[in-house]
Amino acid sequence: MTTYRIAVIGGTGPQGKGLAYRFARHGHEVVIGSRTAEKAVTTAHEVADRLTAEGHAPVLSGAANVEAAAGAEVVLLSVPYDGHDELVASLADALAGKVVVSCVNPLGFDKRGAYGLDLEQSAAETASGLAPDARVVGAFHHVSAVSLWGEEEYLDHDDVLVVGDDRDAKEVAQELARAVTSRIGVDAGKLRLARQLEPLTAVLISINRTYKVRSGIRITGL
Ligand SMILES: NC(=O)c1ccc[n+]([C@@H]2O[C@H](COP(=O)([O-])OP(=O)(O)OC[C@H]3O[C@@H](n4cnc5c(N)ncnc54)[C@H](OP(=O)(O)O)[C@@H]3O)[C@@H](O)[C@H]2O)c1
Repeated sequence: MTTYRIAVIGGTGPQGKGLAYRFARHGHEVVIGSRTAEKAVTTAHEVADRLTAEGHAPVLSGAANVEAAAGAEVVLLSVPYDGHDELVASLADALAGKVVVSCVNPLGFDKRGAYGLDLEQSAAETASGLAPDARVVGAFHHVSAVSLWGEEEYLDHDDVLVVGDDRDAKEVAQELARAVTSRIGVDAGKLRLARQLEPLTAVLISINRTYKVRSGIRITGL
């Protein structure tokens, strides 16, 4: 199994922390990133303590976002859409040449629930434009943070859909999916299809509210 040094930008939030936990448990080296290095270190300790108690030997640390990104082979963007563009622009140099995985969902919420924001392009495409030398893919949009931090060994009722224009980068993200679902991620097409994947999460949130579940995506027919 190939292991990677992965920076999780915004790794102090529930989605980044949950993915960091899954990646580190699978043997990847993980650096949690934050706007505040101390906060990143605290979260890294929390994740490492859990993994150690579970009998694993995680390689986990915390750093300011830019340091985390600079030292990584793979960078996961796990920040809210608000502030996303400024953050990615500020990290552009550190992201050059790296596989950058975006799980960012540009969603709005109102009295009727969650909805996809009406944007000209997806968050993943925007990241690619702001960091043109990065190899951006979209993945992990539909896995729930609660499930990621939950007790199930693998979220094997979910598939991770991966979109991107760089074939090798997409394969890296597909491999990383094994840490979450135990299966390789599904090649779901070109990066522009992130425009469809990102707002689909609003549908899952609606289903979750109606049925009081944590729904996910599973592809049949493969
Ligand atoms: N939560 C889920 O179940 C879920 C599922 C699928 C996808 N996602 C997507 O994953 C991303 C992260 O979700 P989340 O729930 O973990 O988000 P979150 O808790 O709101 O934010 C994650 C982290 O991003 C950093 N951050 C917040 N505002 C920022 C800004 N303006 N600029 C730069 N960094 C900022 C914060 O870290 P520091 O303060 O430490 O810098 C925060 O802990 C979102 O785009 C979301 O759509 C979430």
